[in-house]
Amino acid sequence: MDRDAPVRAPRHNRDADWNAWPVADYLAENYRLLHPCDIGVIHHHAAFYRRFAPGGIARSLEFGAGPNLYPLMLAAAASRRIDALEPSAAGVRYLRDQLEGRPDDTWLPFYTLCRELDPRLPPTPAEALARVRIVPGDADALTPGSYDLASMNFVAESVTEDVAEVAALCAVFVGSVRPGGHLVASFMERMPSYRIGSGPHWPACPVDEGTLRDVFAPLTEELRIDRVAKDLTLPEYGDTGVLLLTARRRRDAQT
Ligand SMILES: C[S@@+](CC[C@H](N)C(=O)[O-])C[C@H]1O[C@@H](n2cnc3c(N)ncnc32)[C@H](O)[C@@H]1O
Repeated sequence: MDRDAPVRAPRHNRDADWNAWPVADYLAENYRLLHPCDIGVIHHHAAFYRRFAPGGIARSLEFGAGPNLYPLMLAAAASRRIDALEPSAAGVRYLRDQLEGRPDDTWLPFYTLCRELDPRLPPTPAEALARVRIVPGDADALTPGSYDLASMNFVAESVTEDVAEVAALCAVFVGSVRPGGHLVASFMERMPSYRIGSGPHWPACPVDEGTLRDVFAPLTEELRIDRVAKDLTLPEYGDTGVLLLTARRRRDAQT
């Protein structure tokens, strides 16, 4: 360790220009192909959604949806309406384009797997995504207690270097559902700040199962954390795998 190296203050969520999120490069690196870690996340989330009757959830939230369509597809098996919250103008543009037209064919293998695991999904991705409403905005735009179910994939730990801000974002995520409401999430495990392609560094905070337990246990019931092994087919983001979480907001929580 270089003891004389200057100590840099952690970068916060507001320090990054989310409007400039490199959607095309992010998709090319992560979602052009169905990678083993996506298969793990889809199996985990599909098992979660199979607990609910078709259309049994009135309103669900995708927190920081970005350009990832498969969490929205999976939610369509259970949710009558899915709000895709996304602050980045680039992310919102991509979502609009995909939802208003026909989703890119690159999403077909993702949808095929989602439907294999949950045959209650409609025949086409476009039909599943018809339940999605885009909500431009960030965590501050949410009304506490307004959803029955919330999903968050690679957001709280991937948008700030400050662990206290990770915890605050997770608390907003939990608080977005009514007491007893359902939660499903995925997190990059131990990922430091990262680059997409040759672009700038984006702020991230290494979290492990212990961090997630410290943050979620006081706020939730039925907390369960699983893990998918590091995906060696993805670019080297410095992570050690993916952590998968399900829980319910505490029934005795105040809205
Ligand atoms: C690493 S990307 C993950 C995108 C997507 N959920 C996925 O599964 O690939 C992080 C996303 O969080 C969004 N984001 C950044 N700050 C946010 C905030 N304060 N509240 C909600 N979303 C935020 C970004 O715009 C970006 O789409």
